[in-house]
Amino acid sequence: MITWILIFIIAFTRFTTSQNGLGYKTPPMGWNPYNAFINAYNETLIKQHADIIANQGYLAVGYRYINLDDGWQASERTKDNKLSPDSLKFPSGIKDLADYMHKNGLLFGIFSDAGTQTCGGHPGSLDYEDTDAQTFVDWDVDYLKYDICDEQRRPEQELYQKMGNALKNATAGKNKTIFYNICEWRTSNPWLWGPDAGGNSWRTSLDIIPFWPSIISIIDSQVRLTEYGESRRGWNDPDMLVLGFDRIPYEEQVTHYAFWAAMKAPLILGCDLRKVDDKIKALILNKDIISVNQDPLGLSVCQVYYRTDNKSSFDIWTGPLNDGYAAILFNRGIEPISITLDFKEHCHLNGSIEVYDLVKQQTYRGYTNNYTAVDIPEHGVEFIKLIGGNRIDDNRPCLNYS
Ligand SMILES: *[C@@H]1O[C@H](CO)[C@@H](O)[C@H](O)[C@H]1NC(C)=O
Ligand SMILES: *[C@@H]1O[C@H](CO)[C@@H](O)[C@H](O)[C@H]1NC(C)=O
Ligand SMILES: *[C@@H]1O[C@H](CO)[C@@H](O)[C@H](O)[C@H]1NC(C)=O
Ligand SMILES: *[C@@H]1O[C@H](CO)[C@@H](O)[C@H](O)[C@H]1NC(C)=O
Ligand SMILES: *[C@@H]1O[C@H](CO)[C@@H](O)[C@H](O)[C@H]1NC(C)=O
Ligand SMILES: *[C@@H]1O[C@H](CO)[C@@H](O)[C@H](O)[C@H]1NC(C)=O
Repeated sequence: MITWILIFIIAFTRFTTSQNGLGYKTPPMGWNPYNAFINAYNETLIKQHADIIANQGYLAVGYRYINLDDGWQASERTKDNKLSPDSLKFPSGIKDLADYMHKNGLLFGIFSDAGTQTCGGHPGSLDYEDTDAQTFVDWDVDYLKYDICDEQRRPEQELYQKMGNALKNATAGKNKTIFYNICEWRTSNPWLWGPDAGGNSWRTSLDIIPFWPSIISIIDSQVRLTEYGESRRGWNDPDMLVLGFDRIPYEEQVTHYAFWAAMKAPLILGCDLRKVDDKIKALILNKDIISVNQDPLGLSVCQVYYRTDNKSSFDIWTGPLNDGYAAILFNRGIEPISITLDFKEHCHLNGSIEVYDLVKQQTYRGYTNNYTAVDIPEHGVEFIKLIGGNRIDDNRPCLNYS
């Protein structure tokens, strides 16, 4: 009896719809200064990036949020206990900045900490949740990144639930929603309780670092979590994008983007957009990759096959789209290899299938049974969409790790 009650509670908890989640049918897309600037940014730099996002093709493909990270705050609260900006960095104030975004068709995000201090020594929101949520509403903020910053004095879920409730209260009855990003560093399995705490996304990794070992270790750490990120619950957040960092080879950037897009991760750019070269900019603006991320079905790909040996190590990840099926054929090794996707085994599809290469934006026609991608480079992927064919059954061929 107790077992059944427990199973019921677990099942119910896992699949209830996020209370704030309605209205966020696809993962958010935007830019945040942290990966390129840490906290060395000010309103001039933020507005420059907003202008680039709005006017140089990014907004047109869906990039819309301009988010602040840690470092925007003054070192103390005001006399009436409110958060306020560092007046040297943000002399015009935060409301002015939010208005600037909205005038340009953009959305605006802010950062706070779930403890008493941020990692930069600024005031956190612990025990000021209602005051701060009201401030965010007064400033017309659209997104909150709420960081745990190693706070260990209260249970994580309780901390996040408090801000979730406060946001709900502060926005109640207003024509306003605030996307709530639970930035909890994955220590207490936030993918299980995130939706109940009011979250729209929750971190499923430690901070990303702009080099391959960090990218591959984050991909590996998502293998068991893909089922938790989906449109009815909210999104897994394996941290922001490191596209546009020169020291990452192009093919590794393609792999990174393909995985983040297909896992339905928030796509938050973090490079200095004033310095992005044309090839990377074209990759970032690739509408076909983005359309997988923004697919209305809102389901992540999952790992369906892997092989590890001395000659070739590779993975296959697949998942349904509203109008097709996505697949990532991923070469983990350092020699180019071919990988065969078996439609029945890896996608539960049969019939005649057209293959669309989402990166090269080319169609390959007329496949039955399987498709072989040749010469996939070191650490590279072939990221494809299958069009046509029939679903053999409603199950997915995800490897079972439970
Ligand atoms: C922001 O930083 C830039 C570069 O360091 C500087 O030129 C500019 O005056 C600063 N703007 C504000 C508003 O502080
Ligand atoms: C939100 O509103 C509810 C109902 O009015 C109230 O009980 C609660 O204390 C408020 N604040 C928070 C943070 O939940
Ligand atoms: C609600 O807000 C949206 C977006 O800011 C705006 O387009 C819409 O007109 C508003 N609706 C009302 C009823 O004010
Ligand atoms: C892989 O290489 C290692 C070291 O050279 C060797 O000991 C091992 O037997 C090889 N494994 C396979 C599956 O070939
Ligand atoms: C595809 O699979 C279904 C279900 O097993 C079967 O009924 C159908 O005949 C198959 N179609 C083809 C073209 O193999
Ligand atoms: C791929 O399918 C073709 C027929 O379409 C078949 O001849 C071939 O053996 C299959 N290859 C693999 C590796 O399954």
